Amino acid sequence: MPEPVRYHMADGVAVLTISNPPVNALSHAVRARLQSLAERAAIDGNVRAIVIAAEGRTFPAGADISEFGKPPAAPWLPEVCARIEAIEKPVVAAIHGTALGGGFEVALAAHARIADAKAAVGLPEVKLGILPGAGGTQRTPRLCGAGPALDLMLSGEPIHARAAERLGLVDVIAKDDLLKEAIAFARKLADAEVPPLRSSDRAPQEADPAAWAAEIAKRREALKDTPLHAPPRIVDCVEAVQLLPFEAGLDFERAAFEDLVGTPQSAALRHAFFAERRAGKLPELKGVPPIEVDHVGIVGAGLMGSGIAVACLNAGHRVTLIEKNIETLEAGVERIIDIYDRQVARKKMSVEDRDARIGRLAGREDLDALAEADLVIEAVVEDMDIKQRVFASLGRITAPGTVLATNTSYLDIDEIARGSGRPEDVMGLHFFSPAQVMRLVEVIPGRETAANVLATGFDFAGTLGKIAVRAGVTDGFIGNRVLAAYRQAAELTLLDGAAPEEIDAAMRAFGFPLGPFQVSDLAGLDIAWARRKRLAATRDPAARYVSIPDRLCEMGRLGRKAGYGWYAYPKNGDRLGEVDPAVAAVVDEERIFQGVTPRKFSGGEIQRRCLVAMANEGAKLLAEGIARRPSDIDVVMMHGFAFPRWHGGPMMWADQRGLLQVQKDLRRLAEDDPAAWAPAPVFGDLIKNGRGFDSLNG
Ligand code: CAA
Repeated sequence: MPEPVRYHMADGVAVLTISNPPVNALSHAVRARLQSLAERAAIDGNVRAIVIAAEGRTFPAGADISEFGKPPAAPWLPEVCARIEAIEKPVVAAIHGTALGGGFEVALAAHARIADAKAAVGLPEVKLGILPGAGGTQRTPRLCGAGPALDLMLSGEPIHARAAERLGLVDVIAKDDLLKEAIAFARKLADAEVPPLRSSDRAPQEADPAAWAAEIAKRREALKDTPLHAPPRIVDCVEAVQLLPFEAGLDFERAAFEDLVGTPQSAALRHAFFAERRAGKLPELKGVPPIEVDHVGIVGAGLMGSGIAVACLNAGHRVTLIEKNIETLEAGVERIIDIYDRQVARKKMSVEDRDARIGRLAGREDLDALAEADLVIEAVVEDMDIKQRVFASLGRITAPGTVLATNTSYLDIDEIARGSGRPEDVMGLHFFSPAQVMRLVEVIPGRETAANVLATGFDFAGTLGKIAVRAGVTDGFIGNRVLAAYRQAAELTLLDGAAPEEIDAAMRAFGFPLGPFQVSDLAGLDIAWARRKRLAATRDPAARYVSIPDRLCEMGRLGRKAGYGWYAYPKNGDRLGEVDPAVAAVVDEERIFQGVTPRKFSGGEIQRRCLVAMANEGAKLLAEGIARRPSDIDVVMMHGFAFPRWHGGPMMWADQRGLLQVQKDLRRLAEDDPAAWAPAPVFGDLIKNGRGFDSLNG
């Protein structure tokens, strides 16, 4: 094993170079070696100053997240930082890439920081449900003040080197050769023979205490309803900077870090981080080269087609948008221009960028314009006949090897592919609306999809900045299958006695931005209605069926777009909707019809019913091979359906509740209604072996 930190001398300066690919995370081996080499340099009479640098992509991007939750191994990062800061010779951090979390904390413990002009620094711990635990909460505000430090730590977003320089977090921006300039800078500090400038020596008391206190009060107020544990603790730590001496502040920070790192919330957020990165790992595609995509054809200029077009244009692709009806085509192109105009108006995009993107867009009425496309995405109406006809034409018109994708949400990819005569070139690329915003794409191979076509799906989604998840062919793939189970649980709970607004409130309290009925209203009730009609013939006759949404559709209550759905929307832009007695009347009638005596549900019981239903559907998707791993289901639900990230997705939620408990919940519900609630056999298998879904996340 090569050493994770190397030592060499340059012009009287000891250079400690961290080397732990891919992101130089501060694993135990790195910490131990960094500390021992820092100590060696501190006592070596030939060393006048020290530079801490890193090779490869970046200065350390943080502590090694995979070590969290394991027994801590000395030296801890706070000790390493304290040791570095205590050195009596100048210590300079040479930052390139992204110095994040613990990596930036090492830099803050150094006596000065020089950064590459393209570098960024940040404290993203909040995104993992923790806080900077190696002195970051104490050193950062001492350098830049409470407000900017809180911005950095509460947002978790990195800032560019120049912004960091303006804040006093970086001292010098390198002009050309970072390492050379860092060594020269360190020499200069040594020559000046002034004592090291330690962040911990800066006295925050000199800052106006009243302004500091006001900043703290403002942040506390803004966070008073947050479900997250870490942000308020970050504010506490920054308050402590004013109230406690540095050492005591470090202890205060450490205690908060220890509390947070042990919470289920942090475990869930860490799970989300790794789940997103795992989703793109498909062993069967290792070494399979994707097709290079420049020119993308999009068939269908509706809301979905134009959203996909914007996503492609943003990524630098050329796009030909096809719609056989000129008015619809023009409306689609206008929608795209409008999206860009709004970004320009909000100063989120320059006029030149907008014009460049629009310049890569062509609108055509004839599929022949796609003869030269590298990839075609079909986004026409959800109708098998129409889609098959489109694919038959595409199979003829496009060159062999052009990848053909359908954006269907539910339909059978194999049936669609059959029409093309080239099923090996066809796959599903299921975007979520609005496609230019939502980060999820389900990539669905059909039975005959070639490996390089699937590889192209993943690679292409990556170029759009999307998170791609592999799903198998089934009605609704991963996301809409789990959504359907969620809806069914919500509707059965409604039938059994809870009101729509109680169910929605319970799921919002869990952390969804909208409850299931509010989401139905937003999406339109007709989509699920069409699916129910399509599946009517194959529905389990023993299953309880809730016909309330069908009744609402028949009444024209198709959701927000109709002004009425599960709720009434008398005011434009009303997000949650108003409770409507007409809906309650339909619900009452259905209860009478089905002989149900309504009962009361607590918020917790409503949440449990919906969540066990989602986890159970996920377990079925795993058994059917539709989802490769539980964490893929979690990624789909977090990014496609706003499942609260701090619960980590339905499968992580089930793991945290305990599978035995979830199975018990399902069994109890199944006593009255086995068709809807019977637990998937996977639960029994995992429980027998004392394992959770996480054990299947290979
Ligand atoms: N620990 C362990 N592994 C990490 C890691 C970390 N801090 N950061 C990234 N990785 C791993 C990723 O899992 C990925 O592994 P695989 O290739 O096996 O999937 C690999 O490094 C590359 O990461 P990305 O695919 O994300 O690469 P990218 O170039 O898109 O992004 C990055 C690089 C900006 C550094 C991004 O990985 C990132 O944001 N990392 C997390 C940074 C972070 O949160 N740091 C704080 C850690 S907590 C901390 O430091 C606490 C403390 O105070 C002591």
